[in-house]
Amino acid sequence: MSKLIAPSVLAADFGNLQRDVEMVNSSKADWFHIDIMDGVFVPNISFGMPVLKAISSHAKKTIDVHLMIVDPDRYINTFADLGADILTVHYEACTHLHRTIQAIKASGMKAGIALNPHTPINVLEDIIIDLDLVCIMSVNPGFGGQSFIENTYKKVKQLKELITTAGSDTLIEIDGGVTNKNAKQLTEAGADVLVAGSYVFKSDNPTETIAGLKSLCN
Ligand code: DX5
Ligand code: ZN
Repeated sequence: MSKLIAPSVLAADFGNLQRDVEMVNSSKADWFHIDIMDGVFVPNISFGMPVLKAISSHAKKTIDVHLMIVDPDRYINTFADLGADILTVHYEACTHLHRTIQAIKASGMKAGIALNPHTPINVLEDIIIDLDLVCIMSVNPGFGGQSFIENTYKKVKQLKELITTAGSDTLIEIDGGVTNKNAKQLTEAGADVLVAGSYVFKSDNPTETIAGLKSLCN
């Protein structure tokens, strides 16, 4: 399967949101990555439902929603209604993770779990078979534009081994500090989806930057 690129809309120009969404539509990107932050689970607030609704009314590619919020169960059906195709919750934010994952699937979306940089891969042993996606955070969640944490490579390899051993088809996504400097090494280690925010949207030519990342890993 080809490696996927998911531009993170957090780094887009919100004053020109439709333009930036159309840019992703016509680029080589595969998914839209959408970061929802509540100011409680993470020390920042991004944007909420009305903005996601505006994005999904123009987006023509898979919408990958990354919830950095406490008690995400409250909003699962809302995000399904807003057009999310994949809903990822944080391991650290869910007490009854198995129930949450089943509820996401029951609402018709694919289900993912994100792990903070300090959370080891082995906590997923008993749930990996149920997951469509695992998002390894390669920065501490809450902000775009942070530096990539090198320990991520080791975690990607461990997760790849866990997935293979379980015979699961879970995708491995990397989120935070992704650039042309680490993209190839990440996909060689087993990553399937690379999220890139600042590297794409703050570049001189985001369309070309996306194409560059795509060809670097494929
Ligand atoms: C961080 C978010 C990321 C962020 C990545 O909490 O989950 O998706 O947008 O941004 P960059 O690529 O700038 O690190
Ligand atoms: Zn994210």
